[in-house]
Amino acid sequence: MCGICGVVGHRPATPIVFEGLRRLEYRGYDSAGIATLDDGRIERRRAAGKLDNLAAVLEDQPLYGTTGIGHTRWATHGAPTVNNAHPHSTSRVAIVHNGIIENFETLRKELEAAGEVFETETDSETIARLADFHLAAGKSPREAAFATLRRLEGAYAIAMIFAGHEGLMIGARRGAPLAVGFGDGEMFLGSDSLALAPLTRRIAYLDDGDRVIITPEKAEFFDHTGKPVERTIQTTAAIAGSVGKDGYRHFMEKELHEHPLVIGQTLQRMVDPATRKVILPDMPFDLATIPRGVITACGSAYFAGMIGRYWLEEIARLPIDIDVASELRYRNPPLTPGSLGMLISQSGETADTLAALRALRGIGLPVLSVLNVEHSTMARESDVVLGTVAGPEISVASTKAFTAQLTVLACLTIAIARAKGTLDEQGEDELVAALLDLPTRAEQVFAHQDAIRNMARIVAEARDVLYLGRGSAFPVAMEGALKLKEISYIHAEAYAAGEMKHGPISLIDRTVPIVASIPSGPLFEKTLSNLQEAKARGGRLLAFTDEAGADRLSAVAEQTIALPKVHPFVTPIIQTIGVQILAYETALLKGTDVDQPRNLAKSVTVE
Ligand code: M6R
Repeated sequence: MCGICGVVGHRPATPIVFEGLRRLEYRGYDSAGIATLDDGRIERRRAAGKLDNLAAVLEDQPLYGTTGIGHTRWATHGAPTVNNAHPHSTSRVAIVHNGIIENFETLRKELEAAGEVFETETDSETIARLADFHLAAGKSPREAAFATLRRLEGAYAIAMIFAGHEGLMIGARRGAPLAVGFGDGEMFLGSDSLALAPLTRRIAYLDDGDRVIITPEKAEFFDHTGKPVERTIQTTAAIAGSVGKDGYRHFMEKELHEHPLVIGQTLQRMVDPATRKVILPDMPFDLATIPRGVITACGSAYFAGMIGRYWLEEIARLPIDIDVASELRYRNPPLTPGSLGMLISQSGETADTLAALRALRGIGLPVLSVLNVEHSTMARESDVVLGTVAGPEISVASTKAFTAQLTVLACLTIAIARAKGTLDEQGEDELVAALLDLPTRAEQVFAHQDAIRNMARIVAEARDVLYLGRGSAFPVAMEGALKLKEISYIHAEAYAAGEMKHGPISLIDRTVPIVASIPSGPLFEKTLSNLQEAKARGGRLLAFTDEAGADRLSAVAEQTIALPKVHPFVTPIIQTIGVQILAYETALLKGTDVDQPRNLAKSVTVE
């Protein structure tokens, strides 16, 4: 959560920092602010709400100077007001912070007793006040910054600038990401390489606990003890041009339409075109002998993991434990030695998933991560990374990253099944063919967009919606319900279809539409019976099926979408696109902020 950007150089800092914040706005949009050094004095402008509000403030009161820091906030401590917006500053220092300072109350009391006067309700202001305290006592910026960092508990990425010290910025990270960008006579700090993409492709990532001192010419890195260290400069992929809406109304709409592309790109990386066999990078463990898998993730990535569990258990006969990362990290489950930890994350920065990764590695399990951001913290801390080739996902609601994750998990399933001998050559050929067919089939889903829009008219009128599915269609239902809640603010619950009669059936009446994911296949009849039960009680049924299930369903459901018929293995991928489009169309009817829904942030880097 929260985005940080900073520059020390020779050009006006404000437009550079502002543009960086635009690219980080997905991390939070409760308030924003920039501080610069103008003739050595700290000046700052802040605004509540989105960056456009800050733009208006800057137009009225421009900010000058070539050293500057900026922040876009997802509020944790303190309401999203102008007063609580970052940067926090005193006459001596200004700071921006992403994370949570857990001991801020203790520090605040100490500092107030020493005469520092606090102006905000935030934990972050403590950093500025503590640094100010040290500067007032005569410490240099470096001494003050390092002394401040030594006292902080919790998670942070921080950038600091100091009055009277043009061309100097100090950054630090612990538990939240921070990258240094190397320019020509100018240097940058950013929460991720996306923020810095138009400025430079030469990036060095801080390791956990690192500090960095940057000037226009160089960056000096130090570890958590203050010892000088080297950090590698990497050349990132050219992504600067690929983060526009390209004529679509929303990033979410664009990203939905990228499903076929990202599935295809991900398959290109994982399937050898000549042999049509799944190829994985070298593994530091033997897939044939792993006794169990432990899957963990958050939100949509967790639902992808649930679908992965159906595949891995059924096809590779690999027993799977699965839990959301926020639970797994504290549950201390008795895991089978030699089990493979499997993490799934778009951003690679989600705090709970990262903590689960560390917990699994801490007990000696190897960790394989399915990640979209391949320079992320999780990537650096995993034993093996399987990359999803989805490109930057800007919409807060995840869409294309989800199907790319499924594509990777499907390939992983095939590879493990082959290694364990639960899938013969013919079986592998059949499943790979089903995967290679996906980009074309995914494209065909959009032929149903008008019909899905009609369905959305019913959903948009509802206050509550029930989503149902069986087998791998159950996580599809969960993904559909989450997406609807997230962007249309309509309450939605997902249930395994067979569970409905154990409780949720009492909710059913004409005002609670039921969205069912019910592809043809072995579970079709069972789910259909559940839908009949709902219909008998006055429920309005809206069904996503396929061409083979459409006839049977149209007699039962008020509206039926017959998505392309694909191999049962890849059905959840096609069904997911359908329910995601339904959420998007509903949000359009509701007039909500599709790409930046209220209260949310794309990358959840706090607990
Ligand atoms: O970056 P991650 O994949 O780790 O993020 C996990 C969740 O925060 C994310 O999937 C969230 O649930 C999305 N907003 C869902 O659309």
